[in-house]
Amino acid sequence: MDLGIASSTAVISGGSTGIGKAAAAALLAEGAGVVLLARTKTTLDETVAELRALGHPGPVVGIQADVTDRASVEVAARQIELEFGRVQILVIAAGHRMRRLDRQLFWDDGDWAADLDVKTVGMLRVIRALHPLLDKTGAGRIVNIGGVAGETVWEGALTHGLNNAAMHHATRYLARDLAPEGITVNAVVPGLVATEWRVGWTAAAAGKAGKTTEEFLDAYLAKLGVLLGRWAESAEVAEAVAFLASQRAGYITGTSLIVDGGITVNAL
Ligand SMILES: NC(=O)c1ccc[n+]([C@@H]2O[C@H](COP(=O)([O-])OP(=O)(O)OC[C@H]3O[C@@H](n4cnc5c(N)ncnc54)[C@H](OP(=O)(O)O)[C@@H]3O)[C@@H](O)[C@H]2O)c1
Repeated sequence: MDLGIASSTAVISGGSTGIGKAAAAALLAEGAGVVLLARTKTTLDETVAELRALGHPGPVVGIQADVTDRASVEVAARQIELEFGRVQILVIAAGHRMRRLDRQLFWDDGDWAADLDVKTVGMLRVIRALHPLLDKTGAGRIVNIGGVAGETVWEGALTHGLNNAAMHHATRYLARDLAPEGITVNAVVPGLVATEWRVGWTAAAAGKAGKTTEEFLDAYLAKLGVLLGRWAESAEVAEAVAFLASQRAGYITGTSLIVDGGITVNAL
């Protein structure tokens, strides 16, 4: 199926690793150009080189930006405007990894605020800064990467839950707000995804528990109630992103597309 986004420009916050990087690869495969935003230059450079090596025709550019810093995001937006002019697709994938497993109820105010500042407020900062560049002829697409922790109660994920629930709400709010400008706003809601960090986390947790990675993962998937019995590959989440970013999804807005192997079937 031709997604109709060849020659589009896609900006991906948090595009240097994990789901953002996989989304970049999926959009490139459809002929789009991609701009990756993230803080760490070495990772950005490596990912840009890796994505260029895939040999797709669209340009791949990495720009250092911190979504918790308004000025940094606005500088990035100006650079994007100079290099690309218009932006058709904006994917919001920047988020905090789980930092600690102690009870989040008793974290300091600053730690709570820091988590919300990246995913929730960071999403708004990026959308606000890129809004002037977003296509308003009907091709404009925003795809937020939410998470099932916003729909269910996931142990150790209080701030993740707040962030994801806020993002799912903002998706609907902004769908209404931006509809008159022809911009659709949707969310992809992953469950457990085999990102680079998650693979490392699983191996470390298995080691601590004295189990093999496979044993630990099987037990973890069963505890979460993943009906399909496996975690998602990042590319499987990215396919959903590419679809919602595409011209094929022009009549879909305000939707949260759950890509969780069935976790929420049990929990909702
Ligand atoms: N992996 C999962 O199982 C899973 C499940 C459900 C939902 N999600 C959600 O999916 C999104 C992506 O997760 P992921 O697992 O792919 O994460 P990841 O591999 O940790 O990637 C996070 C990306 O965000 C960037 N980033 C972090 N803080 C930033 C900041 N302040 N400014 C700019 N960029 C920043 C990171 O680069 P730098 O650190 O260099 O800035 C990186 O590019 C997150 O919102 C997460 O909550 C993930």
